[in-house]
Amino acid sequence: RRQEDPAVVRQKQLLKETAAMMHHLLVNTKGGEAALSYLTGRNLSQATIDHFDVGYVPADRSLVKKFLDSRGATYDEERASGLFVEDDQGHLFDRFNDRVMFPLKDAYGDIIGFSGRVLTKEASQAKYLNSPETALFNKRDVLFNLDQAKGTFKENGALLFEGFMDVISAFQAGVLNGIASMGTSLTQDQVGIISRQTKRLTICYDGDAPGQHAADRALALVRDHPQLQVGVVVLPAGQDPDEFIQAHGAEAFGKQLQHTLTPIGFRLNYLAQGRDMSADQEKLAYVNEALKEIAQEPEPVAQSLYLNQVSELTGVPAETLRQQLPVVSAPRP
Ligand code: GTP
Ligand code: MN
Ligand code: MN
Ligand code: MN
Ligand code: MN
Repeated sequence: RRQEDPAVVRQKQLLKETAAMMHHLLVNTKGGEAALSYLTGRNLSQATIDHFDVGYVPADRSLVKKFLDSRGATYDEERASGLFVEDDQGHLFDRFNDRVMFPLKDAYGDIIGFSGRVLTKEASQAKYLNSPETALFNKRDVLFNLDQAKGTFKENGALLFEGFMDVISAFQAGVLNGIASMGTSLTQDQVGIISRQTKRLTICYDGDAPGQHAADRALALVRDHPQLQVGVVVLPAGQDPDEFIQAHGAEAFGKQLQHTLTPIGFRLNYLAQGRDMSADQEKLAYVNEALKEIAQEPEPVAQSLYLNQVSELTGVPAETLRQQLPVVSAPRP
């Protein structure tokens, strides 16, 4: 581990103390009761809340400021922390207010920023608010829980979720290899970080349409890393992993995670979504796209499985589909 700049060490120390203060407010004070019951209402145990250092900031926008002042933080250190918004006179006000606070950590487990969730979603507010980009926090290369999860990658590979609440919920269900990007779609930087830590990646995004779309985009990125063995888990009924766990329990979730599709298998289902297979034109268009996917598969057995999958989706016999394969895979003139 490299030697860090003293200013970086100092920033990390201030964020760590702030997180400890927020955690204390959540678990030990009257002001934290509503937030704590929000979290227990979502079935998070005290142990899980402690493990992820979850905290709370009250509605008043001066508490974090007063706290850092009391720790001897300078104005410049406070500005650089990402914990404040600034008015035109340069006065600092707490960025986060009345939110459940989730510390975000780097690969070493040092806190580099926060994400805060509102307790009740009102139309005017963002559900989650993240730290802005700072010297420490660059969201394009942050993977939530990487510091803890990487120790389990050797055995289970990495399990990529869409939301960090899914990581937390999976952790409580005994699934320890979960990581998540910070709301933005997966970046090439993050894929690079993952592929340096493991050879196996399972993508388990939300089962709703945006989640499936995001999974498809993630697959396009990991294609540049052929050494990564990638699987996709699709959850039923539009649920996200946390909702699935709440509805069906840890054991059922563990079983779901065993049902991985290959990237091509996922694409074949994904491309069929929203298509009216009773319309010849749509069906033919789908078959063409699907065969292009299958043509990329070098193994005959896997090709056969995929042809059966498309056959089931379209009603076209698998052998007919196979005859069409060379046409699709022939190089364009
Ligand atoms: P819960 O509603 O608390 O269960 O969160 P979720 O994990 O189901 O979140 P969702 O599927 O809506 O979004 C996935 C991820 O996108 C979250 O973990 C956040 O990182 C991010 N995200 C969601 N809503 C917002 C938002 O309003 N602002 C920002 N900055 N990020 C968001
Ligand atoms: Mn605690
Ligand atoms: Mn989602
Ligand atoms: Mn979700
Ligand atoms: Mn959720």
